[in-house]
Amino acid sequence: MRKTLIAGNWKMNLTVTEAESFFKSFKIQKKEGVELLFCPPFTDIPITRFFLERSSILWGAQNVYPEDKGAFTGEISAPMLKDLGCSYVICGHSERRQILGESDELVARKVKAVLSHDMIPILCVGETGEERKEGQTEERIGSEIRTALFELSKEEAAKVVIAYEPIWAIGSGKAATPEDAEEIVAFIRKTVKETAGKKASEEVRILYGGSVNGDNMSHFLKQKDIDGALIGGASLKPETMIDIYSKA
Ligand code: PGA
Repeated sequence: MRKTLIAGNWKMNLTVTEAESFFKSFKIQKKEGVELLFCPPFTDIPITRFFLERSSILWGAQNVYPEDKGAFTGEISAPMLKDLGCSYVICGHSERRQILGESDELVARKVKAVLSHDMIPILCVGETGEERKEGQTEERIGSEIRTALFELSKEEAAKVVIAYEPIWAIGSGKAATPEDAEEIVAFIRKTVKETAGKKASEEVRILYGGSVNGDNMSHFLKQKDIDGALIGGASLKPETMIDIYSKA
């Protein structure tokens, strides 16, 4: 049985002061079988930990550098995140691929580094609107997944969470239809089967991300292959995140 994961990605939002007031008004009723996760900016991880460490809610990071330490000015390593109690790390978000030029190979190294420090990578994949029009969705996503899983053992591959985030749906207010998302997510599961075997493909959790909110969330979760959601904009307000979690 795959555990549902509801993950908030704050992106570059909320100062420490703002994060503090967020968590002061964030109160939920724990639900069995649903994991709730926040991925704040690096600077907010200590305050997030302070508020969440006595709860069942998990925290993680939005990025990592694939080396453990050294002369990599401005970067943060997996051991540093592990030491802050992070459970998950987002790898290869489309904003990093597009704005900062992260390649599939660099993302694969990040996934590996996160796993080797006993955290779970959330590998983001997804196509642009242009690629979708040109019928290149499967080609792009297939290669993002194969590159990321290539160096992993089957056991490691099974632990990865994959987030399908169509780039055209992110922050646009226009989510994919649950049926369209399910079609691609089923393709992702098939790709994992071809790359890492049947068992890994049955265990791997796949999220949908891109304009998820309290109204559309449950429609995604009803799909056979969708195991949760990665939520950007709607995760920035305590009341919307409480609403989303209550519907999971
Ligand atoms: P959004 O972002 O929910 O604001 O569309 C999702 C994401 O980029 O992870």
